[in-house]
Parts: sequence; C-alpha cells; structure tokens
Amino acid sequence: MTVTKLVETRNVDLPAKDRGAIAQRVGTVLEKTYELLLSSQLVHWNVKGELFLPIHQLTEQHYEALFETLDILAERMRALGTEVPTDGATKSFTVSARLDGSSMVKMVEQLIAMHEAAAKGAREVASFADDHDDPVTNDMMMDCLKFHEKAIWMLRAIVAK
Ligand SMILES: [Fe+2]
Repeated sequence: MTVTKLVETRNVDLPAKDRGAIAQRVGTVLEKTYELLLSSQLVHWNVKGELFLPIHQLTEQHYEALFETLDILAERMRALGTEVPTDGATKSFTVSARLDGSSMVKMVEQLIAMHEAAAKGAREVASFADDHDDPVTNDMMMDCLKFHEKAIWMLRAIVAK
C-alpha cells in the first residue's frame, strides 16, 4: 500500500484527517494504475497470433489512457495536501507486473482480472470520497470506473469464443 505523508496545506476545504484518508486511497489507486499500465504494455509487446492487431492496438489505447490517469491521481493527492512518495524504490511505493505469457488468451484474461480489481477499487474509493464530502475525488473515481468497465467489455469481446 502507498504510504502518504500529510503536509500542512489546505487547498481543499476538508478536515486534515479526511484529506489524509482519501489521499491514501487515491495513492493505492495510483499504484494499481501503474501496475495495469505496465501489464498492458507487456501484453502490447508480447501479443502474437491471429488477434495480434486488435489486442496490440487496444492495449496501446489503454496504457496511454492510464498514463493520463496517473497524472490526474497524483495531482489530486497533492491538492488534498499529501506528498506523493518520491522514494519509488522502497516499500512505500511499489509497482510490479508479472504476467503468465504462455498464451495470448491467458494474457488477456489476466488484464481483464486486473481491470476488474481496479474497477472494484475505484468504486470503493468513490463511495469513501462521497461519504467524506469529496465530490471531486468521487468524480475522478467515476471516470476510472467507466474506463475499467469499458476495457473489461472490450477485452472480453476480443477473446470471446
Ligand atoms: Fe507500441
């Protein structure tokens, strides 16, 4: 889990405790977004076979969109008054991706599972933000949720039999 440090700032009119708790969760979404970006690239680079082109193109669209999302999430953490960890190599911020590349379908199925987990996480953070009077973070999480649900549908449709 991402460890965030609350610094003394008040860009957002919410209690410090709530800002810290929301930012911590946004940090976890950031971490998962990095993992999904890297995994989408690994599929993009390793895909082969009949479905090469659609998967190669779709994963490129996904990692480009996820790259933009990273910036939105990190900047929200800053607006909420927390630091984004600068020690990327330590346990406070860890990103890793390990895919079973034994078959193209397996790789896509792993991406689908990661999108499903990301959608669940975005939904949880959206409702946490809503419960703590933060419509901005809620709105960002809704965007994440829309993206992941659409990605799940498209990836499933590509490998459907
Ligand atoms: Fe490429």
